[in-house]
Amino acid sequence: MLTDDTTEAYWGPLHRDGYHGDYESIHTRNQRAYRTGAAHGVEPETLFRFDPKDKLVCDIGAGGGWDAAACLGAGAAMVYCLEVNDHLIEMGRTSLCKLGVCPVRFRWIDVRVDDMEALPRFHIIYSRAVFMHLPLPLVESYWSWTTRHLKPDGETHFQLFQVDGHTEFHNAAVRMPDAEAERRMADCGLVITERREIRHPHMEPVWTIYECKKGAT
Ligand SMILES: C[S@@+](CC[C@H](N)C(=O)[O-])C[C@H]1O[C@@H](n2cnc3c(N)ncnc32)[C@H](O)[C@@H]1O
Repeated sequence: MLTDDTTEAYWGPLHRDGYHGDYESIHTRNQRAYRTGAAHGVEPETLFRFDPKDKLVCDIGAGGGWDAAACLGAGAAMVYCLEVNDHLIEMGRTSLCKLGVCPVRFRWIDVRVDDMEALPRFHIIYSRAVFMHLPLPLVESYWSWTTRHLKPDGETHFQLFQVDGHTEFHNAAVRMPDAEAERRMADCGLVITERREIRHPHMEPVWTIYECKKGAT
């Protein structure tokens, strides 16, 4: 299971209060991302450095679909958007349709009800600003799931929240040395190929991107 009661108790009220904004603001963000690749007004190469063209891509914790829209605008073959809230999923789906993206090029997955094991193997699995919020066992379940759902030459691009040499999970309730977080990734079958700290004037200096491949099984 890639969600749990505490996660749903946390995100349910936030989404009811419009955590990501109303439909119009989500659609505006998606439109910008689709056209320019910049979902949050930060140049795309600042964050994720992958080329989604012709690739099968998975976005863990897709929000309203802006990073997925950027991938679709850049020619991804298809993007799977994983989320946990009906209303958000509906807004994301409507928005991507309204952008004129062919509906066979994206699929919204409700992590609470859809069969996650049945999803295909991806070229690229990425996640932005999600793992810092989840309980550690859930993050490790996601990392293991990722290992099972990467194509042999597939890659992950995971953003982790790190302060003073420590990685945070579950909204800072869990904190560990970065090396310990990296050991846990390895235990889940991921081989780190690049670790890149994100430094940008419009972003807090707390984000690190981990690019990984899956280890030999
Ligand atoms: C801080 S937002 C980040 C959204 C987007 N990735 C971004 O960077 O703008 C975290 C998102 O993760 C989603 N989420 C929470 N638990 C999840 C889970 N178990 N699986 C997938 N998504 C989840 C939330 O609903 C929320 O939209």
